[in-house]
Amino acid sequence: MKTKYIDLIEQTFHFPQEEFSLQNSQLQFHGIDLMKLIAQYGAPLKFTYLPKISENINRAKGWFDNAIKENNYAGNYNYCYCTKSSHFKHVLNEALKNHIHIETSSAFDIDIVENLKMQGKITNDTYVISNGFKRDQYIQNIARLINNGHHNCIPIIDNYEELNLLSDVIDKDFQVGIRIASEEEPKFEFYTSRLGIGYRNIVPFYNNQIKNNPKVKLKMLHFFINTGIRDTAYYWNELQKCLKVYINLKKICPSLDSLNIGGGFPIKNSLAFDYDYQYIINEIINQIQIACEEARVDAPNIFTEFGSFTVGESGGAIYEVLYQKQQNDREKWNMINSSFITTMPDTWAINKRFVMLPVNRWDDEYERVLLGGLTCDSDDYYNSEQHMNAIYLPKYKKDKPLYIGFFNTGAYQETIGGFGGLQHCLIPQPKHIIIDQDEESNLITSVFAEQQTSEQLLSILGYQKKSERASEPFETQTLENTI
Ligand SMILES: Cc1ncc(COP(=O)(O)O)c(C=O)c1O
Repeated sequence: MKTKYIDLIEQTFHFPQEEFSLQNSQLQFHGIDLMKLIAQYGAPLKFTYLPKISENINRAKGWFDNAIKENNYAGNYNYCYCTKSSHFKHVLNEALKNHIHIETSSAFDIDIVENLKMQGKITNDTYVISNGFKRDQYIQNIARLINNGHHNCIPIIDNYEELNLLSDVIDKDFQVGIRIASEEEPKFEFYTSRLGIGYRNIVPFYNNQIKNNPKVKLKMLHFFINTGIRDTAYYWNELQKCLKVYINLKKICPSLDSLNIGGGFPIKNSLAFDYDYQYIINEIINQIQIACEEARVDAPNIFTEFGSFTVGESGGAIYEVLYQKQQNDREKWNMINSSFITTMPDTWAINKRFVMLPVNRWDDEYERVLLGGLTCDSDDYYNSEQHMNAIYLPKYKKDKPLYIGFFNTGAYQETIGGFGGLQHCLIPQPKHIIIDQDEESNLITSVFAEQQTSEQLLSILGYQKKSERASEPFETQTLENTI
């Protein structure tokens, strides 16, 4: 009988896969010898494999190019990176090697844009699409960027007041977009997204606030579906509704020439992942083409703002199984040496699943287990895979260390987890390694951040360093009565 872990995988999936292969029963990810990485840096660790970012950007650009050619589509395609999925400098530096544009979500994002401009990574020609609900600081920062000559910054209007707020502080002509508030999926708690302006109100809003405003040109209609770009009746129906609005607007607004279809490209979350990107893109381009031809309006230039797709597949996390607790006849808990809640918050908050595989011992027998994190929170666990509803791993053996990897975790986990901040039960944030390739395609690694120390956590909590303990307590001030 076939009882090895490798047999289980080979019977269930096509294996090896493009990014996953084995050498001496040990897992390699994009040719990275993960056991070597563990030997060098220890576990737990997180890593970012930079070349995957450029690879995915160029895959998407290629699919759009193909679709544009195949459909004889007159518009062009612009790839924007949604910075909120990972703001790190190494991520942006890698992404910006590929002639892309930027989507921002909040005030401090603009500071990142200005920083990148100073380094010469982007220019005034780089589109900066500024989404999000804009409070004063964001308005001020966008205005500063535009006033300093960034003619391709396009604030996307999210509520009725923003246009006036922007006009007050921008001292030249500027372009804007409008975000459509999409209808949520029928099973969702709400009917209409809180982001953007309702379908029916877009043309009246243009007529009332933009049409006769000599300073402002409407360039873009923005459309983002929370559930992502999927081959479902819901997605196609929302796209059709959006196209109707685009066409109605285009007929009265000649400056409108771009349609932004947002982010939401899925990434590989299981070895069984199967998504035909090229088909979906062909279909989107084809539907836009048909709708515009029928209405006799020019087809728009297309913008996307892929976050997860840009950076998700570049990231991974590796843990060691510390111990096995058998809590009853059926439930064996493999305890990892970190926490799921803090290092992969989406697994806990939105029940998200990532590709999970053992790093070593693929020739050993397997068993069904549950995975537990180190915090004392009963929700700190991971118990099923996207495709199997259970987790199988090589059998726990006290004298044979077992390492497990979670892959494609590169988007959102650091910002949602509060990188460098407090961690649940003060389980320290793991070391973070950057992996790149040199000109000869050799892998090169560097430490981006060491594992958090007790001193760092205590300092955030307001405790003094051991060396300072003898000194005075914090200065106190009286709260002035301002009422
Ligand atoms: C307006 C907008 N654009 C792009 C994105 C990126 O989405 P994803 O990471 O799924 O590509 C988001 C994510 O919430 C968004 O709100």
